[in-house]
Amino acid sequence: EVDELRSRIQAVRDQLGDELLILGHHYQQDEVIEFSDLRGDSYKLSQMAADSTACKTIVFCGVHFMAETADILANRPEKMAERDGRRTTVILPDMAAGCSMADMAGIKQVEAAWEDMSDVIDTEKVIPVTYINSAASLKAFCGRHGGIVCTSSNAQAVLEWAYERGNRVFFFPDQHLGRNTALKMGITEEQMPVWDPFQLELGGNTEHALENSKVILWKGHCSVHQMFRAEHVDGFRKQHPGIKILVHPECPREVNDLADVSGSTGKIIETVKNSPAGTKWAIGTELHLVNRLKAEYPEQEIHFLSPVVCMCATMYRIDLQHLCWTLENLRDGAAVNVIAVDEETTKWSLIALERMLAVR
Ligand code: 13P
Ligand code: SF4
Repeated sequence: EVDELRSRIQAVRDQLGDELLILGHHYQQDEVIEFSDLRGDSYKLSQMAADSTACKTIVFCGVHFMAETADILANRPEKMAERDGRRTTVILPDMAAGCSMADMAGIKQVEAAWEDMSDVIDTEKVIPVTYINSAASLKAFCGRHGGIVCTSSNAQAVLEWAYERGNRVFFFPDQHLGRNTALKMGITEEQMPVWDPFQLELGGNTEHALENSKVILWKGHCSVHQMFRAEHVDGFRKQHPGIKILVHPECPREVNDLADVSGSTGKIIETVKNSPAGTKWAIGTELHLVNRLKAEYPEQEIHFLSPVVCMCATMYRIDLQHLCWTLENLRDGAAVNVIAVDEETTKWSLIALERMLAVR
């Protein structure tokens, strides 16, 4: 059956040629990533979508917020002008491929938080920064309020951009990426209160914490990276002297602090690629990427940092069946699972995304 699906997918690719661009995130399973024309981390994928000109359709093998970002960037006015006004259609093979972290911050909650904190601090001087792992409506919020988007590969440069313009940052939805990045910049835990969207009233403590804050962190996390623990690092260091620990900055602080290298999926891949044979690694990121690295670099010794399986169940929803189904429908002129962000949200979120692309 897999072989049949493969040949059906390939037949559509052959037929559509350059009209079709398949983008794949590094967390995709091997049999899917095999079909991606281009692959990357979140930053690189948004750049690829922003630069795409020839294709009529982008099929995004990744998760919902990535497809939304691709739709916004691929269809910005100057890009459409290059294509004589033609839009690029963006397709997500399975609409249920969301991101549990992105779901931890809703636009109503973020607006309510902004309103509540304005009773205590001057929000005119707060720069909102959303991790790209968020709904387009949150990116639009940042666009409206002088803010910006970041990814795991440019978070520090983006925070520096923000501090050139304001005296505080409101960072959502990932507290770990926010904290790990701010710590590198010399900001202390005491200056980083965590905003809990379910805490209904501001108490004295919260007010004090807000007044003394440099970064206000949203209480969100990635359920995959949250599973890596400091004791996993300790265990590997004891059992494998000389081993190096390589993690994604969505991991909690305790893990990030103990790691030799922390970086985006793109940086994780580059780091392994540039290391000599015999290097020993324990890697703390999504399982499919670590398994692929093991297969691609057999001359290095690569371990998965956790004893339990940490995989992104929503990334995994994209499979050959869904890819084949969306591609065949597309070929037959009935595009399904189209991601189209509304005009108003697009306008404002584009401002925040373009600020990010200009930073790096
Ligand atoms: P990057 O691709 O930016 O490393 O992010 C990882 C991730 O969790 C994507 O959802
Ligand atoms: Fe979201 Fe985490 Fe999955 Fe990335 S790995 S898509 S942050 S749940």
